[in-house]
Amino acid sequence: MVLWGPVLGVLLVVIAGYLCLPGLFRQQRPHEPPLDKGPWPWLGHVIPFRKNMFEFLKHMRAKHGDVFTVQLGGQYFTFVMDPLSFGPILKDVERKLDFVQYAEELVLKVFGYSAGQGDHQMIRSASTKYLMGDGLKDLNKAMLNCLSLVMLGPTGRSRGADRWQEDSLFHFCYRILFKAGFLSLFGCTEDKEQDLLQAEELFVQFRKFDLLFPRFVYSLLWPREWLAVGQLQQLFHKMLSVEHFPERDGVSSWIHYMLRHLREGGVTPAMQDKFNFMMLWASQGNTGPTSFWALLFLLKHPEAMQAVREEATQVLREARLEANQYFVFELSALQCTPVLDSVIQETLRLGAAPTLYRRVHEDYTLKTASEKEYLFRHGDVVALFPYLSVHMDPEIHPDPTAFKYNRFLNPNGSRKVDFYKAGKKIHHYTMPWGAGVSVCPGRFFAFSEMKLFVLLMVRYFDLELVDPDTPVPPMDPQRWGFGTIQPSHSVRFRYRLQPTE
Ligand code: HEM
Repeated sequence: MVLWGPVLGVLLVVIAGYLCLPGLFRQQRPHEPPLDKGPWPWLGHVIPFRKNMFEFLKHMRAKHGDVFTVQLGGQYFTFVMDPLSFGPILKDVERKLDFVQYAEELVLKVFGYSAGQGDHQMIRSASTKYLMGDGLKDLNKAMLNCLSLVMLGPTGRSRGADRWQEDSLFHFCYRILFKAGFLSLFGCTEDKEQDLLQAEELFVQFRKFDLLFPRFVYSLLWPREWLAVGQLQQLFHKMLSVEHFPERDGVSSWIHYMLRHLREGGVTPAMQDKFNFMMLWASQGNTGPTSFWALLFLLKHPEAMQAVREEATQVLREARLEANQYFVFELSALQCTPVLDSVIQETLRLGAAPTLYRRVHEDYTLKTASEKEYLFRHGDVVALFPYLSVHMDPEIHPDPTAFKYNRFLNPNGSRKVDFYKAGKKIHHYTMPWGAGVSVCPGRFFAFSEMKLFVLLMVRYFDLELVDPDTPVPPMDPQRWGFGTIQPSHSVRFRYRLQPTE
């Protein structure tokens, strides 16, 4: 008879030894940053990191200084917290730091998408062509139409639209930006009512996935949640399937270009569906939450709201919306709104907290701005968390936790781009979009979408907080590192279309 108990015991010891031994023996070598392996073999600091990354990194920086290596689940991460030393990492002229491989592993796990060679470059070419410059004009037009459709319905302004309604501000913003963003990128059909229903259904499912997302990435789901994530993934693949694309009108050139490239490269339709899901996630996960913070800050800061309203009145003179009409909006107005630009930048400074990762694929020496040299070990990951090291640095942004709507304006009203640290002008004075090879290729479109939405809200609607004294809610600590942070809870607000009389 086989004695399974001892066999299993030995097996567990072998596995644990295999996982933990390299960590147990790892020591800080000369010129390497301070090494903090954490209290648990293999796990290291993973528990406090996942619980609240911001607080954890603050603590580590206080303990070790601006450059340190920590162990997180068997992997070593070197955090660089001095923004004056970001340049060499982001430029990476020696090509020793890799973003693509790291990202490919993540998207395989999260979206089931197995990236082909050259995908990253292809996404960047498509984005340069269609999400920036002239290509962006068509998309802005599509977005304005879709915002009108989602906010007013297929027949435009309806009777009774000037009655006050109440909603959760977060849900309201996320839902509108998601649906309008989805329809402008993935196209509509002849049947607008049906499009709205489909977009609504997609949003409901997207939010379920979104709520599980941080713990999914960290593999911390309960078995039932794993099942739910699997089912949601399948649902998205079905709803976004390329099979339905012939029925859709006005699919954006951005999506068209990328799908054609995949098709011509022999990528299967099933894998193209997964690609669509990945693009839906990248394009819709942050604009809604950012717009929520922007509107909330405006509602909490009347002087900011007044400045934005005055600017909106100047650039959008005609704001009367008759029955059955869509919003009247000259898109060139988007070029003339320095105050709103500053509001959105300030909102992103306070609300967007991505982590930038690069895998070290050859030993790499970082020369910091203070002339120190640090050796980064092959196989480790270099990480930047600009929210703490840039956005919240009081030297770069005095009184960093306060919302100042004109922080990014010069006294003469022009855009402010000069920020300093230790007497040196700093290039990356905010980094909501990441930077370097992984900088968000949708940033110009995202900026326009959010500006369009805020301009429509302040120009065409009356809006107010149900309780004007309600405090700005805290950030949900689980979401540090994942783009725009969501609030721990929402706030209620009232809105109505301005009466025509
Ligand atoms: C407020 C809105 C947005 C924020 C804060 C944001 C932020 C980011 C960040 C930080 C990254 C880089 C992640 C990394 O370094 O790994 C990223 C990547 C990306 N974003 Fe955005 N994004 C926004 C909106 C959009 C929109 C509207 C689109 C498309 C229409 C888009 C498309 C993408 C894509 C495709 C990538 C992956 C790029 C690559 O693999 O190189 N994003 N975004």
